[in-house]
Amino acid sequence: MEAAELLSKSKHAVAFTGAGISAESGVPTFRGAQGLWSSFNPEEYATPQAFAKDPVKVWEWYRWRMRLIREAKPNDAHLSIARMEELGIVKTVITQNVDDLHERAGSRNLIKLHGDVWTVKCTTCGFRDRLNSPPETVPPRCPACRGLLRPDVVWFGEPLDPEVWRKALVEASRCDVMLVVGTSGVVMPAASLPLEAKRRGAKIIEVNVERSALTNLADIFVQEPASRGLKAILEELERKAFHLKPTNTAR
Ligand code: OAD
Repeated sequence: MEAAELLSKSKHAVAFTGAGISAESGVPTFRGAQGLWSSFNPEEYATPQAFAKDPVKVWEWYRWRMRLIREAKPNDAHLSIARMEELGIVKTVITQNVDDLHERAGSRNLIKLHGDVWTVKCTTCGFRDRLNSPPETVPPRCPACRGLLRPDVVWFGEPLDPEVWRKALVEASRCDVMLVVGTSGVVMPAASLPLEAKRRGAKIIEVNVERSALTNLADIFVQEPASRGLKAILEELERKAFHLKPTNTAR
């Protein structure tokens, strides 16, 4: 398989993931007929203005999503990427997802471009905290100043954390293979990372159930559900690693 061949020869492979990688775990994507944005107007749920206008409505929506994420389990796609990191092939995972399925699958070197649904930040004093479960009452209040807590995620119209973005750009610029999984590739600046990787000479492997805005960039397009596509690539990589291992009996 070509994808495994490229990855096994790479020196610095990076994975770049989107909502599609968590779809098979039961966490909905954003675009398309089944996507969140077909039932929920992002302007009413994912902007600072929406939160200022109706924090309870926004929090109710996040609490529902937190419950879905808490019930979800990493699927074979998250697990395969974590195993590729363990094998020393994937060096970094850059995700647009705010769920914690990469962490729970065992990924260690993870850059979360759009924040984390389990982190909250005070809109008054900036205090940050990590929640273990969805808040019982909404909107939750800051334990330090009683200000309004908000989900520490990036909303439309907000900039990415500059340090997080800097790290992601460094990884995109230095990688020789980028494994792009389950993203429509339409949200900037995140979607510019595969472009930057390609411009610097990296090979792009894309796994998606359908063509995306990034497919024309891809050197290899694996049109499969992420779990099946990545499991197959991993199995091929492990076979290669096994074959390449020197045997102790050969003296
Ligand atoms: P999208 O919902 O835009 O795209 C999901 C992609 O996953 C699509 O290309 C689908 O074809 C693909 N997909 C669906 N199921 C899949 C499966 N089982 N296996 C493989 N691929 C599958 O999600 P993102 O690209 O992540 O931002 O969206 C980017 C950003 O837009 C999100 O981070 C979020 C959203 O607005 C913010 O909230 C700032």
